[in-house]
Amino acid sequence: MPVSVPTTWNPQDDIECVLVDAERLRNRVRELGDEITRDYGGRSLVLIGVLKGAVTFLVDLAREIRLPLELDFVAASSYAGGTETSGAVRIRKDLDDSIEGKDVIIVEDIVDTGLTLQRLIGTLAGRKPASLRVCGLLVKDRPRTEQVDVKYVGFEIPDRFVVGYGLDYAERYRNLEFIGVLRPSIYTNSAPAAGT
Ligand code: IMP
Ligand code: MG
Repeated sequence: MPVSVPTTWNPQDDIECVLVDAERLRNRVRELGDEITRDYGGRSLVLIGVLKGAVTFLVDLAREIRLPLELDFVAASSYAGGTETSGAVRIRKDLDDSIEGKDVIIVEDIVDTGLTLQRLIGTLAGRKPASLRVCGLLVKDRPRTEQVDVKYVGFEIPDRFVVGYGLDYAERYRNLEFIGVLRPSIYTNSAPAAGT
């Protein structure tokens, strides 16, 4: 078998600081799973993951919920590229199944302006679920454009651009095991592709 020189990738070089490390993430996700398990007391639940950023959180959270679960996904994009929201939200992939009469939790990676969630809640509420709540891993400490009720919050974080544990910048850094603040020098002077 041929052996080549390994390519080195040091994402740590692009990270200003670690905001939430892997252990804190694991512990908090377990607490959220316990809380949801208690709140829904034996009922079954649909978790709707918002692609792609919430995927890591959703698969970890799902394994901490001890209830019959269905998983479904939507994709919405509010960022035209870069680190500031564009204001317009587009649904790029819809649910596979009906949620009528079901207890539903929207699982989101991060709530920034609140626009994405406000739009999603509006759309999904119209499909007559029995109940509809939101679980957000991260909520940014900033004035929100849209008031959204996030029933389950993982962490409140400062208003900085963060990556890791599913969150990206220009599709990268999703596979970091922690949440870190991206160095501003990485995203100034470049035009990245849209992240979700
Ligand atoms: P909102 O519509 O402004 O609340 O933005 C929510 C979406 O923007 C999230 O689902 C993320 O995909 C993305 N987003 C917001 N802030 C960040 C961040 O700090 N890092 C990575 N993605 C972010
Ligand atoms: Mg997202």
